[in-house]
Amino acid sequence: MGMSLFTNVLNGYRGTRPPVWYMRQAGRVLPNYRKLRERYTFEEMMNQPQLAAEVTLMPVYDLGVDASIVFSDILTVPVAMGMELMWTDHGPQFKRPLMNETDIHKVLHPDSSKLNHVYKTLDLIKKESSVPTIGFCGAPLTTLCYMLQGTSAKHEFPDAKSFFYTYTESTRYLVDMLTDFSIEYALKQIEHGIDAFQLFDTHAGIVPQSLFEAIFLPAVKKIASAVRQQHIPFIYFPKGLGTGLSLITPEVCDFVSIDWQTPLSMARKIVHADVGLQGNIDPYLLLSSKEKIVDVMHAEYVPFFQENDKWIINLGHGALAATPFENIKFLTDWIKDEQNWR
Ligand code: CP3
Repeated sequence: MGMSLFTNVLNGYRGTRPPVWYMRQAGRVLPNYRKLRERYTFEEMMNQPQLAAEVTLMPVYDLGVDASIVFSDILTVPVAMGMELMWTDHGPQFKRPLMNETDIHKVLHPDSSKLNHVYKTLDLIKKESSVPTIGFCGAPLTTLCYMLQGTSAKHEFPDAKSFFYTYTESTRYLVDMLTDFSIEYALKQIEHGIDAFQLFDTHAGIVPQSLFEAIFLPAVKKIASAVRQQHIPFIYFPKGLGTGLSLITPEVCDFVSIDWQTPLSMARKIVHADVGLQGNIDPYLLLSSKEKIVDVMHAEYVPFFQENDKWIINLGHGALAATPFENIKFLTDWIKDEQNWR
């Protein structure tokens, strides 16, 4: 058994409490991030290894979480493939979303050296801290949603969905291209010291299960297999998958991150028994009060842990910008101090 609760639990050991980290922990919930953000843009912080490493480790120091996640974004992958991205006040926007087959060949020229700053960031993180670090990228389906739609403003990604049906062969081609690139990127992150890898599939729920299973899930399995061949645990976050969680077998991932819509106890029944669970506290709970947070932990999460060892505490989606720092700090301390987990 190793030194870290997070990696021990990922590797199947039983902990005295569940480990905890939060999606979007490295962002706006931290007062120290907000302070830094007054001086630098989000892009500058991602692209300068010194700053990105500092922000990555902030939640370790300021919150006391059991793992860090490298400060970057899933949309850096399409950028490294040649697409032009603008970070606007309304979120990210691709200058020219892919419209048809000609665009694909004209625009996309994958070049993983455009992500060298991420590897440098990892080197700095590993030099400074022994807390495990999670590497990541977006799953092909979710990344394609942005490449085809250009923006997250239209929540159902209508143009992306139409593209999947109209240009099925091109969709397969794009999925293959993203899969190969994601593998190359993940293996590089592993070379630079990540301890686990999470694949974000935030929009897994926008297509019917049959389409998900036919075109997008095989790509996830391919990425998982490449990562796990290097003995790095693989976490998959298929938000909105619903009953499709029955497709989550050990071939897909070591742990699956559950969204806030699905009760953990229900997820435990439909996900394969050998796959661990992560999640799934509603980010909005952290906007409430300390009393309410403790109530929910006692009512739902402590009993869940008493029945289920393979569990990592996280949110059911990213932490909200409006989260009071004192609430997320309180929850983290509470998890670590609670004496009645067993
Ligand atoms: O989790 C972490 O703390 C690590 C860093 C991280 C970011 N984005 C930083 C970020 C990670 C893992 C992501 C993943 C990501 N990015 C996803 C998948 C997970 C999810 O939250 O659904 C998606 C869909 C994106 C794309 C993206 N990035 C959008 C749509 C937006 C704008 C909306 C928003 O929440 O701000 C971002 C911006 C973004 N990514 C910020 C951060 C810290 C905010 C930038 C800022 O204003 O400072």
